[in-house]
Amino acid sequence: MKRLQLSDGNEIPCIGFGCYKALGQEATDAVACALGAGYRYIDSAANYNNEAEVGEGLKKSPVPREEFFLLSKIWPSFYGNPKKSLQKTLTDLGTNYLDCCLLHWPGLDTSKRLRTYEFLLEMRDKGIVRSVGVSNFSEENLEEIRQEFGAYPVINEIECHPTFQQRELIRFCAARGIQIVSYSPINRGVDLDHEILRTLANKYKKSAAQIILNWHIQHDQIPIPKSVHRERILENIDLFDFSLTPEEISAVDALECGARRGKDPRVFPAEGE
Ligand SMILES: NC(=O)c1ccc[n+]([C@@H]2O[C@H](COP(=O)([O-])OP(=O)(O)OC[C@H]3O[C@@H](n4cnc5c(N)ncnc54)[C@H](OP(=O)(O)O)[C@@H]3O)[C@@H](O)[C@H]2O)c1
Repeated sequence: MKRLQLSDGNEIPCIGFGCYKALGQEATDAVACALGAGYRYIDSAANYNNEAEVGEGLKKSPVPREEFFLLSKIWPSFYGNPKKSLQKTLTDLGTNYLDCCLLHWPGLDTSKRLRTYEFLLEMRDKGIVRSVGVSNFSEENLEEIRQEFGAYPVINEIECHPTFQQRELIRFCAARGIQIVSYSPINRGVDLDHEILRTLANKYKKSAAQIILNWHIQHDQIPIPKSVHRERILENIDLFDFSLTPEEISAVDALECGARRGKDPRVFPAEGE
């Protein structure tokens, strides 16, 4: 598994496993299955309300803790008490450290956002969090972090798939050493039906999902596909035996049409604010 180097020197696998909307026993089984299939980055969050089940999956797997990258996130309604949120995450996941913790959403309260980020930096100094990043942050949000703390976050996890690529924000991040993690990488299945993807799938004897995930990896964006089905969990990581040509990458790039799936973080207040 190829790994990428973050700007703080730590390494992260080039693909991860998403845990949003995996519930109950399905979440436990999916996480254990993902580690068994070779995923070495698990993308969790306090706000997914399933970290105890994700933690059960981590425990069920024979893969030792130090062999996988475990990421979680703090949601803005906990920015007033991030210590409590992080403690619950660590307890639920059954670990005493995170490889990375993100501020999940910028929210509208600048002071709480900055103080929570500062708390994560303190946790990094104590070794409880190895890398500190953000999610859904705009150029302005990232600049605000740099001005306050002197350095950019090492990760920005953002919505990114062929029909909504956020190229400008990605260019901004690339120029500043901020690693992009692509969430909803296959647009929850909606992007799979485009003709160019079917053509490339036929050519490489792969699925449209595999073509898209490979496209992310070739752009140095880390995709974190979610599935609770064993065959899809295996399919989504079976990507390392082919490469798209530069022309094929451009053809997938051309699917961009501004089709944002989630809420716009620049204007959407987080609940509890
Ligand atoms: N930071 C944020 O604000 C944020 C927001 C959203 C998501 N995320 C993270 O990103 C992860 C992935 O995003 P996502 O869950 O929104 O969307 P996604 O990974 O693009 O798509 C997941 C959906 O596609 C289906 N699927 C998975 N593999 C497939 C395949 N090979 N063929 C056909 N369908 C397939 C899954 O169904 P089954 O499960 O039924 O197989 C599920 O319904 C999340 O789980 C979460 O960790 C982060």
